[in-house]
Amino acid sequence: MMASSTIPNASLTFNCQTYVDLKSPPTNISYLSSSPLSAPNHRLPRLFTVRASDSEFEAAVVAGKFPEAPPVPPTPAVPVGTPVVPSLPIQRRPRRNRRSATFRSAFQETNLSPANFVYPLFIHEGEEDTPIGAMPGCYRLGWRHGLLQEVAKARDVGVNSVVLFPKIPDALKSPTGDEAYNDNGLVPRTIRLLKDKYPDLVIYTDVALDPYSSDGHDGIVREDGVIMNDETVHQLCKQAVAQARAGADVVSPSDMMDGRVGAMRAALDAEGFQHVSIMSYTAKYASSYYGPFREALNSNPRFGDKKTYQMNPANYREALTEMREDESEGADILLVKPGLPYLDIIRLLRDNSPLPIAAYQVSGEYSMIKAGGALKMIDEEKVMMESLLCLRRAGADIILTYFALQAAKCLCGEKR
Ligand code: PBG
Repeated sequence: MMASSTIPNASLTFNCQTYVDLKSPPTNISYLSSSPLSAPNHRLPRLFTVRASDSEFEAAVVAGKFPEAPPVPPTPAVPVGTPVVPSLPIQRRPRRNRRSATFRSAFQETNLSPANFVYPLFIHEGEEDTPIGAMPGCYRLGWRHGLLQEVAKARDVGVNSVVLFPKIPDALKSPTGDEAYNDNGLVPRTIRLLKDKYPDLVIYTDVALDPYSSDGHDGIVREDGVIMNDETVHQLCKQAVAQARAGADVVSPSDMMDGRVGAMRAALDAEGFQHVSIMSYTAKYASSYYGPFREALNSNPRFGDKKTYQMNPANYREALTEMREDESEGADILLVKPGLPYLDIIRLLRDNSPLPIAAYQVSGEYSMIKAGGALKMIDEEKVMMESLLCLRRAGADIILTYFALQAAKCLCGEKR
């Protein structure tokens, strides 16, 4: 096909086309031809461009006739008064790998994806969605309508995992929290509805008695205020089985009773729920960051605090003890809670267990970022994305976050 050709001419004046595609010489010849190979219905003559062959280009360069290319760029000017100094005698300049967006993204060690998010959703019996004062942008969603819409929005941007937190009417609360395993209770009913509408949605549940307890504690309270361990675990097993029966994919004990993971595994297996996973709140601290959540569910402890079951925020090694127990009892996922103030604990579990690690960015963390943004003290969106990325960097595989929808929209390039 190389019937005719033109050798690139070094004396031609520079033009953009010349170096954008160095294979095309500046003086391509175009002519019309009827191609014998063209389809029978191809009546119009075809336009051909004939190029020089590679060897002709090479011969030109060997002969010292170089094709045109842009000149070496000039050294950029510096501000007047910039000191003139010898360059530092250093071998490593880590800034080299950060000098453009392309380098930075090539060497980025951690990434965020909507697939990493689990979206916590508050549900109630009502038909209305009730705003939660302490958590701007969050609602107690009507289980039948508002919830389904919120889940649809989340799925649209790649968030296909949710965790449900119910607000239970006071009249159904009791000292032993039996409503927790009512097959027609709010959570099992909601799970069935969600699974009916979105069979591939992954549903996590919270296993603990506090939304159902008239005392607002995660377990059964004895007369003297002691939270009873083994009796509570018995209730939690029934709760987990009821959730599994309704279609839950992952049950998540957040109660911090001892031995509950093993007992729950056995209870689930005995009922034929071998496929249901357990995400254990392995290191859940007695934290003041849960304040807005308790307001959302009206689940504040009626007396005292949760320090005899949740961990002391001062403790690090103790998380290893909890981790070993949960691993040996058969947990599938280990969770650390809260998130950002406990990055060291996330890293500790990451480095000591091969299991997936979850981080819970709790209500207080969420509300602080929202409040700081509303007061224009910080850039809400940037701080949101940075906080989530940092949880991943510390070693979290998945993140439970009230920002799931907002952050996923951001990752999909959508503004709010
Ligand atoms: C209850 C539970 C709590 C949270 C999740 N599950 C509150 C508590 O332990 O008092 C807190 C979540 C948040 O603050 O976002 N078992």
